[in-house]
Amino acid sequence: MKVSIIGCGYVGLTTGLALAELGNEIILVDVIPEKLKVIEQGRSPFYEPDVDEMISKHISSRAITTSMDLKEAVNSTEITFITVGTPSREDGSMDDTYIRSASGNIGEAIKDKEGFHVIVMKSTVVPGTTDITIRSTIDEVSGLGSGEGYGLAMCPEFLREGAAMYDSLNPDRVVIGTHEDRTFEILSKLFEPLNSDILRTSPTSAEMIKYTSNSLLATKISFANEISRICEEVGVDVYEIMKGVGMDSRISPQFLRAGVGFGGSCFPKDVSALMHIAKEMGLKTPILDGVMENNDIQPYHLVDIADRSIGGIKGKKALILGLAFKPDTDDIRSTRSLPVVMNLLEKGAIVAGHDPKAIDNFRSEAPDIEYFEDMNMGVDWADIIFLMTEWTEYKEIDWSTKDHVEAIFDGRRTIDTSKIEDINYWSMGRVLPDW
Ligand code: UGA
Repeated sequence: MKVSIIGCGYVGLTTGLALAELGNEIILVDVIPEKLKVIEQGRSPFYEPDVDEMISKHISSRAITTSMDLKEAVNSTEITFITVGTPSREDGSMDDTYIRSASGNIGEAIKDKEGFHVIVMKSTVVPGTTDITIRSTIDEVSGLGSGEGYGLAMCPEFLREGAAMYDSLNPDRVVIGTHEDRTFEILSKLFEPLNSDILRTSPTSAEMIKYTSNSLLATKISFANEISRICEEVGVDVYEIMKGVGMDSRISPQFLRAGVGFGGSCFPKDVSALMHIAKEMGLKTPILDGVMENNDIQPYHLVDIADRSIGGIKGKKALILGLAFKPDTDDIRSTRSLPVVMNLLEKGAIVAGHDPKAIDNFRSEAPDIEYFEDMNMGVDWADIIFLMTEWTEYKEIDWSTKDHVEAIFDGRRTIDTSKIEDINYWSMGRVLPDW
Protein backbone atom coordinates (compact mmCIF):
# COMPACT_ATOMS: atom_id res chain seq x y z
CA MET A 1 0.00 0.00 0.00
CA LYS A 2 1.02 3.65 -0.36
CA VAL A 3 1.38 5.39 2.98
CA SER A 4 2.26 8.97 3.94
CA ILE A 5 3.57 9.77 7.40
CA ILE A 6 3.23 13.27 8.82
CA GLY A 7 6.00 13.96 11.33
CA CYS A 8 9.45 12.35 11.23
CA GLY A 9 10.17 12.09 14.94
CA TYR A 10 10.79 8.83 16.69
CA VAL A 11 7.36 7.31 16.11
CA GLY A 12 6.97 8.56 12.54
CA LEU A 13 10.33 7.42 11.30
CA THR A 14 10.20 3.98 12.90
CA THR A 15 6.59 3.46 11.75
CA GLY A 16 7.67 4.37 8.21
CA LEU A 17 10.62 1.98 8.35
CA ALA A 18 8.52 -0.88 9.73
CA LEU A 19 5.84 -0.38 7.05
CA ALA A 20 8.52 -0.19 4.33
CA GLU A 21 10.02 -3.43 5.70
CA LEU A 22 6.54 -5.01 5.28
CA GLY A 23 6.57 -4.08 1.59
CA ASN A 24 4.72 -0.74 1.51
CA GLU A 25 5.66 2.48 -0.27
CA ILE A 26 6.25 5.30 2.18
CA ILE A 27 6.42 9.10 1.91
CA LEU A 28 7.86 10.76 5.02
CA VAL A 29 6.67 14.35 5.50
CA ASP A 30 8.15 16.92 7.86
CA VAL A 31 8.37 20.70 8.13
CA ILE A 32 12.07 20.65 9.04
CA PRO A 33 14.13 20.41 5.82
CA GLU A 34 17.38 19.52 7.65
CA LYS A 35 15.74 16.43 9.13
CA LEU A 36 14.53 15.23 5.73
CA LYS A 37 17.95 15.89 4.24
CA VAL A 38 19.64 13.65 6.81
CA ILE A 39 17.09 10.89 6.09
CA GLU A 40 17.58 11.31 2.31
CA GLN A 41 21.29 10.76 2.90
CA GLY A 42 20.40 7.40 4.43
CA ARG A 43 21.07 8.43 8.02
CA SER A 44 18.96 8.71 11.16
CA PRO A 45 18.35 12.13 12.80
CA PHE A 46 18.71 10.40 16.22
CA TYR A 47 20.65 7.43 17.57
CA GLU A 48 18.69 4.18 17.61
CA PRO A 49 20.00 0.66 16.91
CA ASP A 50 19.31 -0.65 13.34
CA VAL A 51 17.66 2.59 12.17
CA ASP A 52 20.62 3.88 10.11
CA GLU A 53 20.91 0.59 8.23
CA MET A 54 17.18 0.41 7.54
CA ILE A 55 16.94 4.01 6.34
CA SER A 56 19.85 3.49 4.02
CA LYS A 57 18.28 0.28 2.62
CA HIS A 58 14.82 1.76 2.03
CA ILE A 59 16.03 5.15 0.77
CA SER A 60 18.27 3.51 -1.82
CA SER A 61 15.47 1.19 -3.00
CA ARG A 62 13.10 4.25 -3.04
CA ALA A 63 10.60 2.31 -0.86
CA ILE A 64 10.90 5.45 1.28
CA THR A 65 10.92 8.98 -0.11
CA THR A 66 10.67 12.29 1.72
CA SER A 67 8.65 15.42 1.09
CA MET A 68 7.82 18.80 2.58
CA ASP A 69 4.66 18.97 0.49
CA LEU A 70 1.98 17.44 2.72
CA LYS A 71 -0.81 17.91 0.17
CA GLU A 72 1.08 16.16 -2.58
CA ALA A 73 2.11 13.32 -0.21
CA VAL A 74 -1.46 12.77 0.97
CA ASN A 75 -2.79 12.92 -2.59
CA SER A 76 -0.41 10.26 -3.84
CA THR A 77 -1.08 7.78 -1.01
CA GLU A 78 -4.02 5.74 0.34
CA ILE A 79 -3.32 5.99 4.06
CA THR A 80 -1.88 8.88 6.14
CA PHE A 81 -0.41 8.45 9.62
CA ILE A 82 -0.28 11.46 11.95
CA THR A 83 2.87 11.16 14.07
CA VAL A 84 3.52 14.76 15.09
CA GLY A 85 4.74 15.72 18.57
CA THR A 86 2.42 16.07 21.57
CA PRO A 87 4.54 18.02 24.08
CA SER A 88 3.49 18.73 27.66
CA ARG A 89 2.45 22.18 28.82
CA GLU A 90 3.73 23.56 32.15
CA ASP A 91 0.66 22.21 33.99
CA GLY A 92 1.15 18.66 32.62
CA SER A 93 -1.64 18.92 30.03
CA MET A 94 -1.06 17.89 26.41
CA ASP A 95 -0.33 20.59 23.84
CA ASP A 96 -2.34 19.67 20.71
CA THR A 97 -1.12 22.54 18.49
CA TYR A 98 0.74 20.27 16.03
CA ILE A 99 -2.15 17.83 15.86
CA ARG A 100 -4.62 20.58 15.00
CA SER A 101 -2.39 21.96 12.30
CA ALA A 102 -1.62 18.52 10.78
CA SER A 103 -5.34 17.63 10.79
CA GLY A 104 -6.23 20.93 9.10
CA ASN A 105 -3.60 20.40 6.41
CA ILE A 106 -4.72 16.82 5.79
CA GLY A 107 -8.36 18.00 5.61
CA GLU A 108 -7.33 20.54 2.99
CA ALA A 109 -5.45 17.86 1.03
CA ILE A 110 -8.28 15.29 0.91
CA LYS A 111 -10.91 17.88 -0.06
CA ASP A 112 -10.70 17.12 -3.79
CA LYS A 113 -8.98 13.74 -3.62
CA GLU A 114 -10.47 10.82 -5.49
CA GLY A 115 -11.18 7.62 -3.55
CA PHE A 116 -11.37 6.68 0.10
CA HIS A 117 -8.43 7.97 2.16
CA VAL A 118 -7.68 6.54 5.61
CA ILE A 119 -6.22 8.83 8.30
CA VAL A 120 -4.59 7.19 11.30
CA MET A 121 -3.63 8.95 14.52
CA LYS A 122 -0.52 7.30 15.99
CA SER A 123 0.98 9.81 18.42
CA THR A 124 0.01 9.41 22.08
CA VAL A 125 -2.96 11.72 22.67
CA VAL A 126 -5.47 12.35 25.44
CA PRO A 127 -8.70 10.35 25.15
CA GLY A 128 -11.15 12.05 22.81
CA THR A 129 -8.53 13.76 20.62
CA THR A 130 -9.19 11.61 17.52
CA ASP A 131 -12.98 11.52 17.83
CA ILE A 132 -13.36 15.19 18.73
CA THR A 133 -10.40 17.41 17.76
CA ILE A 134 -9.12 15.55 14.69
CA ARG A 135 -12.51 14.50 13.32
CA SER A 136 -14.07 17.95 13.66
CA THR A 137 -11.03 19.72 12.19
CA ILE A 138 -10.87 17.41 9.16
CA ASP A 139 -14.66 17.48 8.64
CA GLU A 140 -14.73 21.26 8.79
CA VAL A 141 -11.77 21.87 6.49
CA SER A 142 -12.52 19.12 3.95
CA GLY A 143 -16.30 19.41 3.93
CA LEU A 144 -16.32 15.58 4.00
CA GLY A 145 -17.72 13.30 6.69
CA SER A 146 -15.63 10.59 8.36
CA GLY A 147 -16.64 7.03 7.51
CA GLU A 148 -17.90 8.08 4.08
CA GLY A 149 -15.63 10.74 2.66
CA TYR A 150 -12.59 9.43 4.50
CA GLY A 151 -11.69 6.86 7.15
CA LEU A 152 -10.46 7.72 10.64
CA ALA A 153 -8.67 5.53 13.19
CA MET A 154 -6.41 5.70 16.20
CA CYS A 155 -3.62 3.09 16.42
CA PRO A 156 -1.34 3.68 19.41
CA GLU A 157 2.38 2.93 19.26
CA PHE A 158 3.93 0.68 21.91
CA LEU A 159 7.62 0.68 20.88
CA ARG A 160 10.46 1.29 23.34
CA GLU A 161 13.38 3.55 22.51
CA GLY A 162 16.53 1.49 22.11
CA ALA A 163 14.45 -1.42 20.77
CA ALA A 164 12.29 0.60 18.37
CA MET A 165 12.71 -1.50 15.23
CA TYR A 166 12.35 -4.83 17.03
CA ASP A 167 9.22 -3.63 18.82
CA SER A 168 7.69 -2.14 15.65
CA LEU A 169 8.12 -5.41 13.77
CA ASN A 170 7.20 -7.71 16.67
CA PRO A 171 4.40 -5.99 18.58
CA ASP A 172 2.55 -7.89 21.34
CA ARG A 173 -0.65 -6.47 19.89
CA VAL A 174 -1.99 -4.00 17.33
CA VAL A 175 -4.86 -1.83 18.54
CA ILE A 176 -7.10 -0.40 15.81
CA GLY A 177 -9.50 2.16 17.21
CA THR A 178 -12.17 2.97 14.65
CA HIS A 179 -15.96 3.17 14.33
CA GLU A 180 -15.84 2.11 10.68
CA ASP A 181 -15.72 -1.47 9.27
CA ARG A 182 -14.16 -0.32 6.01
CA THR A 183 -11.31 1.48 7.77
CA PHE A 184 -10.79 -1.50 10.10
CA GLU A 185 -10.48 -3.86 7.11
CA ILE A 186 -7.96 -1.64 5.31
CA LEU A 187 -5.78 -1.29 8.42
CA SER A 188 -6.07 -5.00 9.32
CA LYS A 189 -4.69 -5.76 5.86
CA LEU A 190 -1.84 -3.27 6.34
CA PHE A 191 -0.83 -4.79 9.69
CA GLU A 192 -1.55 -8.44 8.75
CA PRO A 193 2.12 -9.28 7.89
CA LEU A 194 3.08 -8.51 11.51
CA ASN A 195 1.23 -11.71 12.54
CA SER A 196 0.19 -10.02 15.73
CA ASP A 197 -3.07 -10.11 17.71
CA ILE A 198 -5.36 -7.30 16.56
CA LEU A 199 -7.77 -5.62 18.96
CA ARG A 200 -10.56 -3.45 17.58
CA THR A 201 -11.83 -0.68 19.82
CA SER A 202 -13.22 2.83 19.52
CA PRO A 203 -10.62 5.62 18.91
CA THR A 204 -11.10 6.91 22.48
CA SER A 205 -10.54 3.43 23.95
CA ALA A 206 -7.38 3.07 21.84
CA GLU A 207 -6.10 6.38 23.24
CA MET A 208 -6.97 5.30 26.77
CA ILE A 209 -5.25 1.90 26.29
CA LYS A 210 -2.00 3.69 25.49
CA TYR A 211 -2.15 6.01 28.52
CA THR A 212 -3.17 3.14 30.78
CA SER A 213 -0.37 0.85 29.54
CA ASN A 214 2.30 3.46 30.14
CA SER A 215 0.83 4.44 33.50
CA LEU A 216 0.71 0.83 34.66
CA LEU A 217 4.30 0.20 33.56
CA ALA A 218 5.40 3.38 35.37
CA THR A 219 3.41 2.22 38.42
CA LYS A 220 5.26 -1.11 38.44
CA ILE A 221 8.61 0.72 38.42
CA SER A 222 7.62 3.16 41.18
CA PHE A 223 6.21 0.29 43.22
CA ALA A 224 9.50 -1.62 42.86
CA ASN A 225 11.36 1.52 43.93
CA GLU A 226 9.22 2.03 47.02
CA ILE A 227 9.70 -1.63 47.99
CA SER A 228 13.41 -1.16 47.26
CA ARG A 229 13.74 1.57 49.93
CA ILE A 230 11.94 -0.68 52.43
CA CYS A 231 14.24 -3.60 51.50
CA GLU A 232 17.30 -1.47 52.27
CA GLU A 233 16.11 -0.98 55.85
CA VAL A 234 14.83 -4.55 56.27
CA GLY A 235 18.25 -5.76 55.13
CA VAL A 236 17.28 -7.75 52.03
CA ASP A 237 17.95 -7.38 48.32
CA VAL A 238 15.02 -6.03 46.26
CA TYR A 239 16.23 -7.89 43.16
CA GLU A 240 15.83 -11.21 44.95
CA ILE A 241 12.45 -10.10 46.27
CA MET A 242 11.20 -9.04 42.82
CA LYS A 243 12.52 -12.27 41.31
CA GLY A 244 10.31 -14.18 43.71
CA VAL A 245 7.37 -11.85 43.16
CA GLY A 246 7.75 -11.82 39.35
CA MET A 247 7.66 -15.63 39.18
CA ASP A 248 3.92 -15.31 39.75
CA SER A 249 2.54 -15.40 36.20
CA ARG A 250 -0.20 -12.96 37.23
CA ILE A 251 2.48 -10.34 37.95
CA SER A 252 5.42 -11.07 35.51
CA PRO A 253 9.02 -10.01 36.25
CA GLN A 254 8.94 -7.18 33.66
CA PHE A 255 9.34 -3.54 34.77
CA LEU A 256 10.12 -4.43 38.36
CA ARG A 257 13.79 -3.39 38.14
CA ALA A 258 14.36 -0.98 41.00
CA GLY A 259 16.76 1.88 40.34
CA VAL A 260 16.92 5.65 39.98
CA GLY A 261 13.47 5.75 38.43
CA PHE A 262 11.95 6.17 34.99
CA GLY A 263 12.84 8.88 32.51
CA GLY A 264 12.18 9.34 28.80
CA SER A 265 9.70 11.19 26.70
CA CYS A 266 6.76 8.95 27.55
CA PHE A 267 6.20 7.74 31.11
CA PRO A 268 6.59 11.12 32.91
CA LYS A 269 4.60 12.93 30.21
CA ASP A 270 1.81 10.37 29.93
CA VAL A 271 1.31 9.84 33.67
CA SER A 272 1.19 13.64 34.15
CA ALA A 273 -1.31 14.03 31.29
CA LEU A 274 -3.59 11.35 32.75
CA MET A 275 -3.43 13.00 36.18
CA HIS A 276 -4.26 16.33 34.56
CA ILE A 277 -7.31 14.94 32.72
CA ALA A 278 -8.57 13.29 35.90
CA LYS A 279 -8.16 16.50 37.91
CA GLU A 280 -10.07 18.45 35.29
CA MET A 281 -12.89 15.95 35.78
CA GLY A 282 -12.77 16.54 39.54
CA LEU A 283 -11.22 13.10 40.20
CA LYS A 284 -8.44 12.31 42.65
CA THR A 285 -5.46 10.20 41.49
CA PRO A 286 -3.64 9.05 44.63
CA ILE A 287 -1.93 6.14 42.85
CA LEU A 288 -0.64 8.20 39.92
CA ASP A 289 0.39 11.05 42.28
CA GLY A 290 2.41 8.47 44.22
CA VAL A 291 3.97 7.08 41.04
CA MET A 292 5.38 10.51 40.19
CA GLU A 293 6.35 11.32 43.78
CA ASN A 294 8.24 8.04 44.08
CA ASN A 295 10.02 8.72 40.83
CA ASP A 296 11.15 12.12 42.06
CA ILE A 297 12.56 10.63 45.28
CA GLN A 298 14.91 8.03 43.78
CA PRO A 299 17.72 10.22 42.30
CA TYR A 300 17.99 12.20 45.57
CA HIS A 301 17.93 8.97 47.54
CA LEU A 302 21.00 7.75 45.62
CA VAL A 303 22.90 11.00 46.36
CA ASP A 304 21.78 10.88 49.99
CA ILE A 305 23.14 7.34 50.41
CA ALA A 306 26.44 8.47 48.86
CA ASP A 307 26.62 11.51 51.10
CA ARG A 308 26.00 9.48 54.25
CA SER A 309 28.13 6.47 53.37
CA ILE A 310 31.36 8.37 52.67
CA GLY A 311 30.83 11.10 55.24
CA GLY A 312 30.06 13.98 52.87
CA ILE A 313 30.65 14.57 49.19
CA LYS A 314 31.78 18.21 49.31
CA GLY A 315 34.92 18.59 47.18
CA LYS A 316 34.75 15.00 45.85
CA LYS A 317 35.21 14.40 42.14
CA ALA A 318 32.01 12.66 41.09
CA LEU A 319 31.70 10.95 37.70
CA ILE A 320 28.26 10.27 36.25
CA LEU A 321 28.37 7.16 34.07
CA GLY A 322 25.35 7.42 31.78
CA LEU A 323 23.47 10.58 30.81
CA ALA A 324 20.80 9.12 28.48
CA PHE A 325 17.48 8.13 30.11
CA LYS A 326 18.19 4.51 29.15
CA PRO A 327 20.87 2.63 27.17
CA ASP A 328 20.99 2.48 23.35
CA THR A 329 19.63 5.99 22.88
CA ASP A 330 20.99 9.54 22.91
CA ASP A 331 17.68 10.78 24.36
CA ILE A 332 18.07 12.68 27.63
CA ARG A 333 14.45 13.72 28.13
CA SER A 334 13.55 13.43 31.85
CA THR A 335 16.81 11.56 32.41
CA ARG A 336 17.41 10.77 36.07
CA SER A 337 21.04 11.86 35.61
CA LEU A 338 20.09 15.55 35.61
CA PRO A 339 18.64 15.72 39.16
CA VAL A 340 21.65 13.71 40.38
CA VAL A 341 24.08 16.16 38.73
CA MET A 342 22.24 19.19 40.13
CA ASN A 343 22.02 17.71 43.62
CA LEU A 344 25.72 16.80 43.63
CA LEU A 345 26.63 20.35 42.56
CA GLU A 346 24.43 21.77 45.32
CA LYS A 347 26.29 19.60 47.81
CA GLY A 348 29.63 20.95 46.61
CA ALA A 349 30.91 18.00 44.53
CA ILE A 350 32.99 18.52 41.36
CA VAL A 351 30.95 16.78 38.69
CA ALA A 352 31.83 15.23 35.33
CA GLY A 353 29.80 13.07 32.96
CA HIS A 354 30.30 10.30 30.42
CA ASP A 355 27.90 8.69 27.98
CA PRO A 356 28.58 6.75 24.77
CA LYS A 357 25.95 8.74 22.80
CA ALA A 358 24.27 11.48 24.83
CA ILE A 359 27.04 13.94 25.83
CA ASP A 360 26.09 16.57 23.25
CA ASN A 361 22.42 16.51 24.23
CA PHE A 362 23.22 16.61 27.95
CA ARG A 363 25.72 19.44 27.58
CA SER A 364 22.90 21.81 26.63
CA GLU A 365 21.20 21.04 30.00
CA ALA A 366 24.38 21.10 32.09
CA PRO A 367 26.97 23.21 30.23
CA ASP A 368 29.18 23.84 33.26
CA ILE A 369 30.22 20.34 34.24
CA GLU A 370 33.16 18.50 32.69
CA TYR A 371 32.68 15.74 30.14
CA PHE A 372 34.85 12.73 29.33
CA GLU A 373 34.61 11.17 25.87
CA ASP A 374 36.72 8.30 27.19
CA MET A 375 35.04 6.29 29.94
CA ASN A 376 38.33 5.04 31.44
CA MET A 377 39.84 8.52 31.59
CA GLY A 378 36.74 9.62 33.49
CA VAL A 379 36.99 6.76 35.96
CA ASP A 380 40.73 7.47 36.45
CA TRP A 381 39.83 11.11 37.30
CA ALA A 382 37.01 10.32 39.73
CA ASP A 383 36.84 9.80 43.49
CA ILE A 384 33.28 8.49 43.39
CA ILE A 385 31.14 7.03 40.62
CA PHE A 386 27.41 7.27 40.03
CA LEU A 387 26.19 4.68 37.54
CA MET A 388 23.00 6.07 36.01
CA THR A 389 22.46 4.25 32.68
CA GLU A 390 23.12 0.55 32.15
CA TRP A 391 25.19 0.80 28.93
CA THR A 392 26.91 -2.54 28.16
CA GLU A 393 30.37 -0.91 28.11
CA TYR A 394 30.05 -0.04 31.78
CA LYS A 395 29.90 -3.76 32.56
CA GLU A 396 33.33 -4.12 30.99
CA ILE A 397 35.27 -1.61 33.12
CA ASP A 398 38.30 -3.30 34.67
CA TRP A 399 37.86 -2.23 38.29
CA SER A 400 41.00 -4.12 39.37
CA THR A 401 43.02 -1.19 37.96
CA LYS A 402 40.79 1.48 39.56
CA ASP A 403 41.34 1.02 43.28
CA HIS A 404 41.80 4.78 43.73
CA VAL A 405 37.99 4.99 43.43
CA GLU A 406 36.52 5.48 46.89
CA ALA A 407 32.99 4.27 46.17
CA ILE A 408 30.58 3.29 43.41
CA PHE A 409 26.87 4.09 43.67
CA ASP A 410 25.07 1.97 41.13
CA GLY A 411 21.65 3.36 40.27
CA ARG A 412 20.89 0.59 37.77
CA ARG A 413 22.37 -2.60 39.27
CA THR A 414 24.82 -2.85 36.38
CA ILE A 415 28.21 -3.68 37.84
CA ASP A 416 29.22 -7.25 38.56
CA THR A 417 30.23 -7.01 42.23
CA SER A 418 32.46 -10.08 41.97
CA LYS A 419 34.80 -7.91 39.85
CA ILE A 420 35.30 -5.22 42.49
CA GLU A 421 37.31 -6.03 45.56
CA ASP A 422 38.74 -2.90 47.16
CA ILE A 423 36.06 -0.38 46.22
CA ASN A 424 33.02 0.39 48.36
CA TYR A 425 29.92 -0.48 46.35
CA TRP A 426 26.28 0.22 46.94
CA SER A 427 23.25 -0.19 44.72
CA MET A 428 19.55 0.65 45.08
CA GLY A 429 17.55 -1.83 47.14
CA ARG A 430 20.53 -3.50 48.83
CA VAL A 431 21.40 -3.72 52.48
CA LEU A 432 22.51 -0.22 53.56
CA PRO A 433 26.24 0.36 54.07
CA ASP A 434 27.68 0.58 57.60
CA TRP A 435 28.12 4.20 58.55
C1 UGA B 1 7.90 3.31 27.02
C2 UGA B 1 7.08 2.02 26.91
O1 UGA B 1 7.84 0.92 27.44
C3 UGA B 1 6.71 1.73 25.45
O2 UGA B 1 5.87 0.58 25.39
C4 UGA B 1 5.95 2.95 24.88
O3 UGA B 1 5.63 2.76 23.50
C5 UGA B 1 6.85 4.19 25.00
O4 UGA B 1 7.17 4.40 26.40
C6 UGA B 1 6.09 5.37 24.43
O5 UGA B 1 5.04 5.71 24.99
O6 UGA B 1 6.47 5.87 23.39
P1 UGA B 1 10.46 3.98 26.58
O7 UGA B 1 10.13 5.20 27.37
O8 UGA B 1 11.12 4.13 25.26
O9 UGA B 1 9.14 3.10 26.32
O10 UGA B 1 11.44 3.06 27.45
P2 UGA B 1 11.26 1.95 28.59
O11 UGA B 1 12.08 0.78 28.23
O12 UGA B 1 9.84 1.69 28.90
O13 UGA B 1 11.96 2.67 29.84
C7 UGA B 1 11.43 3.87 30.40
C8 UGA B 1 12.18 4.22 31.67
O14 UGA B 1 11.87 3.28 32.71
C9 UGA B 1 13.71 4.19 31.54
O15 UGA B 1 14.26 5.30 32.20
C10 UGA B 1 14.10 2.90 32.22
O16 UGA B 1 15.41 2.94 32.78
C11 UGA B 1 13.06 2.81 33.33
N1 UGA B 1 12.82 1.42 33.81
C12 UGA B 1 12.29 0.48 32.98
C13 UGA B 1 13.09 1.12 35.13
O17 UGA B 1 13.56 1.96 35.92
N2 UGA B 1 12.83 -0.16 35.60
C14 UGA B 1 12.31 -1.12 34.80
O18 UGA B 1 12.08 -2.25 35.29
C15 UGA B 1 12.03 -0.80 33.46
